[in-house]
Amino acid sequence: MAIYIDPEIQKKFKKFKERYQNAYTKDEWDYIEYYFFKQLHSEYAPNQMMQIYGKLGLKDTPADFYHKHLELIKKHFPIDGNIVEVAAGNFPIFAEELAKEQGKIGKGTVTIYEPALLDMTPKYPNMTLHKEYFTEETDLTGADLVIGIHPCKATWAIMFNAIKHKKDFYIAMCGCDHSPGAEYLDFCDQSPYYFQQDTIDEAKRLLRKYPNGELQVTKLEDYPFDYPILYNKK
Ligand SMILES: C[S@@+](CC[C@H](N)C(=O)[O-])C[C@H]1O[C@@H](n2cnc3c(N)ncnc32)[C@H](O)[C@@H]1O
Repeated sequence: MAIYIDPEIQKKFKKFKERYQNAYTKDEWDYIEYYFFKQLHSEYAPNQMMQIYGKLGLKDTPADFYHKHLELIKKHFPIDGNIVEVAAGNFPIFAEELAKEQGKIGKGTVTIYEPALLDMTPKYPNMTLHKEYFTEETDLTGADLVIGIHPCKATWAIMFNAIKHKKDFYIAMCGCDHSPGAEYLDFCDQSPYYFQQDTIDEAKRLLRKYPNGELQVTKLEDYPFDYPILYNKK
């Protein structure tokens, strides 16, 4: 079946290709080029594609995922403090939307840790970009809330660091198995269930040791995957 291709979107994609194709590996770019139009309205689009749709400012696309997380976070936490986002992706679409909202309130900052950032110019003045890995030792002094949206291998670093330092946290887990040693196997083919359950158990244990509210586990509504979202409630 032929896919209708909006000429405006086609133009935007062409510009994106000129600017960023070389920033990706050949395999990554082949995937992006093949699926860009096919996944434009698919809720199964992977994060890398959602980030590109967000970067191009396309509405009613899978990039709405970031907006849904922001709405959920706003129900549970104030967003006018100092927020750290870990594993933001090539393009920090979620952080940009958050920073924009903080700008409207006139208060709040977003600090990002992501080694794969492709642009180092923050879109809003209240954003700070660190093109580096976040670890259990990353300094969280001054942070009010630590967020990870599908943070993959950074999941446990966020959990340990945030909970030990009694920081509020919101971790929306991804669908891969990132348990220690999982890379010996083809980890994205493994069920994420045990890793997700271990993470929930570990977060509960840590919150008993470093009290900062109760662990809550929820999921994103209107999203086809029931990956757990962990956050603390005081
Ligand atoms: C599935 S992507 C999610 C990106 C983004 N949050 C999103 O939802 O589109 C996972 C990201 O985690 C990043 N990552 C992995 N380990 C990390 C670490 N220790 N610190 C910061 N980022 C990390 C990777 O570079 C990758 O961009």
